[in-house]
Amino acid sequence: MVITDEILYVGAEDRNLDLFESQYPVSDGVTYNSYVILDEKTAVMDTVDNRGTAQWLDNIRKVLDGRKPDYLVISHMEPDHGANIARFVEAYPEAVIVGNAKTFPMISQFFDLNLTGRTLTVKEGGTLSLGRHTLQFLMAPMVHWPEAMVAYEQTEKILFSADAFGTFGVNSGLKEQWSEEAARYYLNIVGKYGAQVQALLKKAAALDIQMICPLHGPVLKEDLGYYLDKYQIWSSYEPEQKGVLIASASIHGNTLAAAGELADMLRGRGEECVEVLDLTRTDVSYGVRKAFFYDRVVLACATYDGGLFPCMEEFLAHLKSKNYQKRTVALVENGTWAPGAVRAMRGMLESMKQITIPEPAVTIRSALNEDSRRALEELAEVLVTA
Ligand code: FEO
Repeated sequence: MVITDEILYVGAEDRNLDLFESQYPVSDGVTYNSYVILDEKTAVMDTVDNRGTAQWLDNIRKVLDGRKPDYLVISHMEPDHGANIARFVEAYPEAVIVGNAKTFPMISQFFDLNLTGRTLTVKEGGTLSLGRHTLQFLMAPMVHWPEAMVAYEQTEKILFSADAFGTFGVNSGLKEQWSEEAARYYLNIVGKYGAQVQALLKKAAALDIQMICPLHGPVLKEDLGYYLDKYQIWSSYEPEQKGVLIASASIHGNTLAAAGELADMLRGRGEECVEVLDLTRTDVSYGVRKAFFYDRVVLACATYDGGLFPCMEEFLAHLKSKNYQKRTVALVENGTWAPGAVRAMRGMLESMKQITIPEPAVTIRSALNEDSRRALEELAEVLVTA
């Protein structure tokens, strides 16, 4: 695939993967992107996952058309990109491997390779001239591993952005598709490191960027402000949408029914954007994305073994690990003989930053009755003005 006359796509599509990083469902697959820059010197930008080895090596052979690669630039060592470093080193013994001071110790951990005389270590702001093209390297620690770096090609003004601006899916070219799946990708995988992403965005703001080539998903060529704005919102933990997510963890359906009634109460009070999410039937990665999307969340949970129904406990654990913050989170519990979910949810939320828990917390005894329905009405009233 041609990106520009001298920059070509050599990555691999993976349409059959069940779980990316062994945890995220990818119904539309994922791509492992890699690029070749053709110039007086040739550079391959990253390798691909083991699942794409044959396709990638074949793509490189075709694009190079008899030439040998001079450089392999390693922007990120995670195996969805770095898995083929040893194969590349063996296939192209003249090529120099380009990384930073944190890259090469990781290569030694993953592979038993002798790279003596074959490495080029770059630093913040360092450049590598290929002829007409010059790569400028910017360190991007924790976006998404410590050794991550991005490369800005100065002539064509292209940012090779590593995991940043990546997304799940092999068909995520439209902005709307991109923003859903890129948000799920970003918030679940890189979400913990908002401060580090902000630092990278500051560096990017000083560059004239005409195109972004990430390591997953489509190359971004138009309306780059849209994508940069999304990253600004996500990395600063701000909500994207005024609205309420009601996340339900219901065993037999009574808690879910209460979530539905609360949604109707909110809509009846003029709340335009209300979504009920059944955590028992939804992968937690989608729940995390939605919790970050809205400014207010209601957690409605059945009591289980004196604590939380497991999918709610998992949901909150994920939110905590992704640095969830700056939200209003209301609580609804159900319990037939000893309701304890509100106490447990409150305990988990107290360890997160800037979480406001409005009153009342609502207790349902088995199924909604007149008293608990009234309490839900009261909570709806509080939420629409929160
Ligand atoms: Fe796509 Fe952090 O690897």
